[in-house]
Amino acid sequence: MPSPQNPNPCAVEQNHPQFLELQQYIDSLHINPEDPRRKDTLIMTLHRAQRIFGYLPEVVQVYIASRYSIPHADVSGVISFYNFFTTTPKGKIQVNVCLGTACYVNGADKVLREFEQVLGIKSGQVTPDGKFSIESLRCVGACGLAPVVTINQKVYGKVKPGDVREILEKFFIDEQTDVKEAVNG
Ligand code: FES
Repeated sequence: MPSPQNPNPCAVEQNHPQFLELQQYIDSLHINPEDPRRKDTLIMTLHRAQRIFGYLPEVVQVYIASRYSIPHADVSGVISFYNFFTTTPKGKIQVNVCLGTACYVNGADKVLREFEQVLGIKSGQVTPDGKFSIESLRCVGACGLAPVVTINQKVYGKVKPGDVREILEKFFIDEQTDVKEAVNG
């Protein structure tokens, strides 16, 4: 039982619709705390949680650990092992700048700095309106196009700092079009 001085950290969040969705998903797995194989479904659950929340904040990790009757360190260990899991929130438009060797020697660090300057955030941050986030990545396997930037599913090759504003403008325009289409039905 949590004491009043040390309340369950999930108590408030568990009433949130996103937590309820995760709770229902985990309920459907019928996890038996005595079963040594119960961690077999942990990665699936983390994927589902990341789809629901957009990332895996600590409170979600703690909740999942408690549902699996395993230490929080086991959950955070899995998250840090796989690079498709993230513990930081992402923007709707995710800018990823490759800082692998081929990209770096072709000036990817300057490209990253330009994105940071134009969007007014640092790598690992999200703009206050939640639209854009910036991350740096290791080699994305397109070294012939270095320096490489990906924005959501789209790949940009041989990017120069001078291209950054033009690339982002398209996304600003697409955003406005989305809003207009939503308004006009
Ligand atoms: S180093 Fe950037 S794509 Fe390989």
